[in-house]
Amino acid sequence: MDTDVEVFAPATVANVGCGFDVLGFAIHRPGDLVVARPGPENQLTIESIHGESEGIPLEIEKNTAGVAAKALLDHLGERRGISLEITKGIPIGSGTGSSAASAVAAVMAVNEFLGRPLSRLELLPFALEGEAIASGGAKHADNVGPCLLGGMVLCPTNANIEPVQLSYPETLHAAVVLPKLHILTTKARAILPAQIDMKTAITQWGNVGSLVAGLLQNDLTLIGHSLQDVVAEPYRAQLIPGFPDVRLAALDAGALGCGISGAGPAIFAICNGNQTAFEVAISMQKSFAKNDLESYRYISPINPLGAQRTR
Ligand code: HSE
Repeated sequence: MDTDVEVFAPATVANVGCGFDVLGFAIHRPGDLVVARPGPENQLTIESIHGESEGIPLEIEKNTAGVAAKALLDHLGERRGISLEITKGIPIGSGTGSSAASAVAAVMAVNEFLGRPLSRLELLPFALEGEAIASGGAKHADNVGPCLLGGMVLCPTNANIEPVQLSYPETLHAAVVLPKLHILTTKARAILPAQIDMKTAITQWGNVGSLVAGLLQNDLTLIGHSLQDVVAEPYRAQLIPGFPDVRLAALDAGALGCGISGAGPAIFAICNGNQTAFEVAISMQKSFAKNDLESYRYISPINPLGAQRTR
């Protein structure tokens, strides 16, 4: 007897400063919920979308959850009718992995509904199919990877390397502040140059290497110094009013480092401990308020679990 399955998939911070398209981590909330239940025979349908759902289409081929779930069903040759109910806790266009969370929750819910034919890691390419439609076709796993697997995840584009879950200092907390703005990922990617010069590339890969070393060696100073993005941030900062001031406010309040979360407009700061993260988030919000921007804050340790079945 088929029964309803519900999966929660958390928000994520992609890029983590210097790791454009290859590094991300999960936080505990917000997140998206997807329920998979028996539906009309031979069909995959999205019966409803709730929550932060404005403008999200119900059509399977235009919806990140729908595309991801269909890619999985086609791969499995599965014909059972499945109906999806989506509850969006993560605003779209926020820079906190909204499309990735829906895609991950959908593939995991469908996989559980079918009796778990695939492992968690095997679900990644199908979730990426869904994520790609929100990203102008680009398949980068820096949101989907940590959302699905949990933790701090390195997702190199080298096809021979599977996502790598990195260890990190347990005291690390993220302060994520989301101003009331929308930035489409496609737009934030379109403003980036197609090429970068050698000097910029050397700086960036030095920072990524140092960040990974800092995480593995529990070196908070090295982590902080490595959180510099010379590839995307110089172009994207202009999309977020007051970004330089918010960043300074975070660092002045004790953050180890600060940058744009994913494609923005959310800004994240990495902090040592929950109390510092709280104080940093408040300072960032006050700074946004000087630009007449209201904001939400999320404070979280790194979420080691990723998506979870909740029913
Ligand atoms: N790495 C991606 C970007 C994350 O920065 O465009 C957003 O999808």
